[in-house]
Amino acid sequence: ANKLALQGIKILISAGPTREPLDPVRYITNRSSGKMGYALAEAAVAAGAEVTLISGPVNLPSPMSVNLLKVETAQQMFDAVISQADNFAIYIGAAAVADYRPAEIQNHKIKKQHDDGVIALEKNPDIIATVASLPNKPFVVGFAAETDDLENYATTKLRSKNLDMIAANWVGQTEGGFDSDRNALQVYWSGGSQHLAMTDKKQLAQQLLSLIIERMHEKNPA
Ligand code: C5P
Repeated sequence: ANKLALQGIKILISAGPTREPLDPVRYITNRSSGKMGYALAEAAVAAGAEVTLISGPVNLPSPMSVNLLKVETAQQMFDAVISQADNFAIYIGAAAVADYRPAEIQNHKIKKQHDDGVIALEKNPDIIATVASLPNKPFVVGFAAETDDLENYATTKLRSKNLDMIAANWVGQTEGGFDSDRNALQVYWSGGSQHLAMTDKKQLAQQLLSLIIERMHEKNPA
């Protein structure tokens, strides 16, 4: 994306893991450094976009010139995203949202002797699928991290969640994925796909934004 490619375009990005408390000292979470989402926020600002970043707990510096909102749970991320998603031209869901949360949160630390070893869970809402179902929906881009059958799972998610684009990456490979500063992506949309080769997440973010802009123009020719 060149410096002005996203001039004045409003982009909403969610990034990082969510944390689902069990009691005051314990939680369930997903592995996610937030690096890809933060790199996308930085690349979008550099291309002239107006960026809001809704972030789960990560150990990353706050990007410059980004409206940053920190959340913890999937429900908080859902509320923050859904309440404003229809004000944005693009939504990129790069967060590793916990699919389930403990059905009950204990006010006191659970003691070993009272612990029966069973945690009842309930499903969290699907944030990106909800954004994609809004009447005034933005251009919606999802991520899929998979250990197997990447193309099949990614294209199924593209269709079932009604996304405009999905960026899929392998996890558990020797290079790329969690915590890594580098990654490779296989990007799918209805009727096409493109491979973005292994590189640092900053470069990858620029390349993905360029693809998003191309696809938006193809979808809505001026
Ligand atoms: O189904 P899966 O979690 O693999 O789909 C990944 C995509 O869905 C990502 O873009 C992720 O941010 C989004 N997602 C979501 N809300 C959930 C679960 C996943 O927005 N509860």
